[in-house]
Amino acid sequence: MNYKEFETKHFFQTYKRMPVEISHGDGCYLVTKDGRRILDFFSGLAVNVLGYGDRDVLRAIIYQTKNYLHLSNFYLQDAQVELAGVLLQASGYDRIFLSNSGTEAMEGAIKLVRRWGKDHSKQSLVALEGSFHGRTMGALSLTGRKKYREKYEPFLPDIKHVGLNDISGLEHAIDEKTAAFFFEPVQGEGGVRPVSQEFIEKVKLLQETFGFLTVADEIQTGVGRTGKFLACEHFSFKPDITVVAKALGGGLPVGALLVKEYLNYVFTPGSHGTTFGGNPVACAAGKVVVTKVSRENFLKNVENRAKQLREKLIALQEKHPAIIKEVRGMGLMIGVDLHVPGAPFVEKFLEKGVFINCTDETVLRLLPPLVIGDKEIEMLIGVFEEILKKM
Ligand SMILES: Cc1ncc(COP(=O)(O)O)c(C=O)c1O
Repeated sequence: MNYKEFETKHFFQTYKRMPVEISHGDGCYLVTKDGRRILDFFSGLAVNVLGYGDRDVLRAIIYQTKNYLHLSNFYLQDAQVELAGVLLQASGYDRIFLSNSGTEAMEGAIKLVRRWGKDHSKQSLVALEGSFHGRTMGALSLTGRKKYREKYEPFLPDIKHVGLNDISGLEHAIDEKTAAFFFEPVQGEGGVRPVSQEFIEKVKLLQETFGFLTVADEIQTGVGRTGKFLACEHFSFKPDITVVAKALGGGLPVGALLVKEYLNYVFTPGSHGTTFGGNPVACAAGKVVVTKVSRENFLKNVENRAKQLREKLIALQEKHPAIIKEVRGMGLMIGVDLHVPGAPFVEKFLEKGVFINCTDETVLRLLPPLVIGDKEIEMLIGVFEEILKKM
């Protein structure tokens, strides 16, 4: 039995796997077992921001593995403190809780909101339709997509979902009982849909009136993806709580709950915790990622590459308006919305040596490593053009 047959026979079939087997990664490319080099415009779902094999990340990991792989959170761990130092500096937050994953960081945010809400007689949560916050029951209760929620009821009570950028919906949903408003600055799974500045301004106004907490899920948008360290910086908005993960560990699992100082009192000894969260090897890698990504030059380069890529995609849209409906997104998180289903495009791109992703049925989602250059952009556009010409 080969690996594919074994997987089909014994794994839950929760993933639709790509029809290739990977041997290793190399910069912005993945190399298959039969020696094909595939340009990776997916980055392991927005994780591999520095591409594959970044020397500094590998060096930091090796260094840490020689000391210890795990200690438990009963000990203070240098690697955690060092990651926290650079991450708090880059994000402008004061307090941190380290988790293993995005969804666990979201659970931490929900629990923090719950405890804060108890002190203020507020319990309802407001989230957005089309949102994705993770697969654990709390995060799934916030997630606003039927596809992920189906048959998992009952969810956490007192959660209202409002349409993305629906200002009057927001006004109706929020009141003095609202404990928190949760949002992604750009909905990733939901089709690469950015929140509008007008909507954010309304959130700020309502917050002044009703005094709820704001929670940004920057698990996909954070750590440089949009050309700012956090996407909320584009809106000049600093939520009370921000959650990051994915890119943070340079390919190793780590997430973080970032919180303003005045909420520090909410979690007390024993009120929240984790065995593996803040794993020192992942934190060692994370320190390198955050240090590199938060540099002004790095972020400027992301912005420039994003502009270059977007302009070329818009030119393709102008040539093929019957197929490409819209090019949208922020930084190097780009959605190309089609008038036709996107899945066949993913296959065609792969045949021609490029990994892309499709979300929300018609949206081609581009999430390249943040270190792509001219060559990679030209290849993506060249392949796209070839596919479009043949249609
Ligand atoms: C915006 C957002 N929130 C939460 C999650 C869940 O993160 P994880 O898969 O690390 O649990 C994801 C993952 O795709 C995400 O994109």
